[in-house]
Amino acid sequence: MFTCFLPKVEFGAGKVNHIADYVQGLGTKAAIAIDPYMNSIGLGDQIAAQLKKVFIESVIFADIEPNPSCFKVDEMAQKAKAERCDFVIAIGGGSAIDYGKGLAVMVNSQGSSWDYTERNDHDVLRPGSNTLPLVAIPTTSGTGSESTPFSVLNNPVLKEKSTIVNERIFPRLAIVDPELMVSMPSKITASTGFDAFAHALESFISLKANPYTTMVSREAMSIVVRNLPEAVANGGNVKARENLAWASTLAGSAIAHIGVTLPHSLAQPVGGMFGVPHGDSIAACMVNVLEVSWQSDLEKFAAISTLMDPSISSLSLRQRAEKCPDLVSKLLSDINLHVKFSTFGMTENDIDKATSIALTGYYFDIECHPKKVTREEIRQIYKACL
Ligand SMILES: NC(=O)c1ccc[n+]([C@@H]2O[C@H](COP(=O)([O-])OP(=O)(O)OC[C@H]3O[C@@H](n4cnc5c(N)ncnc54)[C@H](O)[C@@H]3O)[C@@H](O)[C@H]2O)c1
Ligand SMILES: [Fe+2]
Repeated sequence: MFTCFLPKVEFGAGKVNHIADYVQGLGTKAAIAIDPYMNSIGLGDQIAAQLKKVFIESVIFADIEPNPSCFKVDEMAQKAKAERCDFVIAIGGGSAIDYGKGLAVMVNSQGSSWDYTERNDHDVLRPGSNTLPLVAIPTTSGTGSESTPFSVLNNPVLKEKSTIVNERIFPRLAIVDPELMVSMPSKITASTGFDAFAHALESFISLKANPYTTMVSREAMSIVVRNLPEAVANGGNVKARENLAWASTLAGSAIAHIGVTLPHSLAQPVGGMFGVPHGDSIAACMVNVLEVSWQSDLEKFAAISTLMDPSISSLSLRQRAEKCPDLVSKLLSDINLHVKFSTFGMTENDIDKATSIALTGYYFDIECHPKKVTREEIRQIYKACL
């Protein structure tokens, strides 16, 4: 038994130019939460001008940092409320989209957006029916936030990241236009593309995987493996960008249903503590997690290896499964993304804190990992990743 859902997706090159046709009926004043780089090249003004033609006013919110702060969301929600915004258009990478989702919740709510994040150390508030409708327009091909009901927020006081998980922040519409992704430099292409790969892999091996997520995760992994090295080497290749954009939306759909597993659970605490680009933090631990995990489900890890390198298909199940960490390490080499947690300043002294955060804020994803891990095993993985 399972449930399937995707937002309405308008997919294809140039789709963003038709935004005014798609958003009519959602409201009369949009809060446009836009990545500062995309705003600096004129996209915010361009969208505002298109909306004006159909009598929709807008206010631009472009002061959005990577790993957006929950307090900034709270502050800007007050402004969006004063401006009487009645829907949100979020444009950018996962940071801008998650910020937009936070705004959508907080415009009509009390307290802090942090109170709405899923943790086992506070009473979680739930977004109400007055949450604003949201349109998501990704400009990275990575997080898949355009097809998830998640908003990842950073608490700069605690130096921790946590996630609002609720169907009310599921986008009403996603406009996925690969032309918006062509401007990504190769480093950001690699980091965000590896995040999409991780979503696909982690949902594929999840104990919660179902027939829908398995199909979607497998397809997303295949597309990333075949297109990410090319997009990193040649960012102007719109076909590779288009393929990755679709893979990212698909992988987002997989995690929307069943969440992620251990790599994200270990990476997110380090991301919050050291302000690391999200995909880099996952790249730093993925191979180590695979090394301790591949024996827990030979079928699935062998399937991943075979998909990454069809030439090994005649090897035994165990031999193929065992190759999984090396093949993922090779992908990281091909996209020039070899990082360790020490690259971000983490030392052995930080391991206990990171472990506690993982077990507090990401316990639900750890429980879905096929290899059961104890607190001590998590500590050992962190140590190996330094
Ligand atoms: N909501 C979800 O389902 C979900 C899933 C995974 C991760 N996340 C969160 O998303 C955030 C990371 O998002 P991200 O990896 O997309 O990166 P990001 O949004 O932080 O952007 C990274 C950098 O890329 C730049 N950028 C974005 N688009 C660009 C473009 N087209 N051209 C040039 N530069 C561009 C931004 O200005 C920024 O400097 C993290 O906070 C992570 O935890 C959310
Ligand atoms: Fe991610």
